[in-house]
Amino acid sequence: MKPFDIAIAGEINLDLILYGLPLQMAVERELLASDFRVTLGSSSAIMAHNAATLGARVAFTTVVGSDELGRIALERLQSSGVDTSHTIHHSTLATGVTLLLPHGSDRHILTYPGTIAELTVDDLDFDFLTQARHFHLSSLYLQKGLHAGLPDMLRRLKHAGVTISLDTNDDPDDRWGAPLWDSLPNIDLFLPSESELCRMTGCSDLDAAIAVLARHVPTIVVKRGSSGVRVHSKDKNTDVAPVNVVPVDTIGAGDSFDAGFLCAYLMGRDAVTAARAGNITGALSTQATGGTEAFRNSEQREVFLRAHGFFDLLATTP
Ligand SMILES: Nc1ncnc2c1ncn2[C@@H]1O[C@H](COP(=O)(O)OP(=O)(O)OP(=O)(O)O)[C@@H](O)[C@H]1O
Ligand SMILES: [Mg+2]
Repeated sequence: MKPFDIAIAGEINLDLILYGLPLQMAVERELLASDFRVTLGSSSAIMAHNAATLGARVAFTTVVGSDELGRIALERLQSSGVDTSHTIHHSTLATGVTLLLPHGSDRHILTYPGTIAELTVDDLDFDFLTQARHFHLSSLYLQKGLHAGLPDMLRRLKHAGVTISLDTNDDPDDRWGAPLWDSLPNIDLFLPSESELCRMTGCSDLDAAIAVLARHVPTIVVKRGSSGVRVHSKDKNTDVAPVNVVPVDTIGAGDSFDAGFLCAYLMGRDAVTAARAGNITGALSTQATGGTEAFRNSEQREVFLRAHGFFDLLATTP
């Protein structure tokens, strides 16, 4: 039996969240936030942290700076039980950081990349990655260092019997270029948001966008915020309704969806059942600040998951 369920290669940083600032911000004025939080952020680390709190055995490879922000972020991740033994400490670059300014359902997202784009394929220990059953990649377009050699590395992982999921998240340049299309032939599960999928395919209609991707990937799960998800699997599209919640904020809901979805999928559930599990963990993420806080308090987490039938879905006979 392999020691890990999921291996993740990606970025780690803290999110600094300032609430209550205006959408239009005047320059040369002191603008006061109504609240402030520091949480473990970054798509890859949120996904790793939350999957581990759900019981998955997770291995995480990353590059951090030799600084306090990197140390705090790593400690947060380790507290969930994630294996960070293959962390690389950069000697000169600072750990990245993201400043989030939520404005209701919209938000400003300001990122200093720092070490975020530094991880390269050469940094990855292939034997370590293949100690997991599954490999997950987030933030494709922030992980610029990984682009060279990525399709070949994914092909080798697949050849070694590892299944692979991809959540591109946004492309800050909105170009949706090569690393995506070259990687898709080796992807088993593609987990974009609706906006990302439509922009990467140039289709305004969701079903048309799904049809384009379905030529490359067998299973596509499209995240649609408060509308839940649309699953494309076995040539069929199925809408899966969201959990009815009033969000505190939606930061990291997509990565939290991925965590619940993958936990269920790797326990042998079909894509639609796994999407139901993902909708529950996506909704849980919205119940507290940032992408990881709702998962840190084990009592509140378990109450929410139980109330919405998460464990029943995991127990469903495949
Ligand atoms: N308001 C909401 N009510 C219920 N569920 C929600 C809500 N917002 C998000 N979710 C859940 O979280 C999932 C992911 O949300 P979303 O579509 O915002 O992903 P995303 O854009 O990838 O997010 P991220 O910013 O984390 O990358 C949704 O598919 C849904 O299951
Ligand atoms: Mg996302």
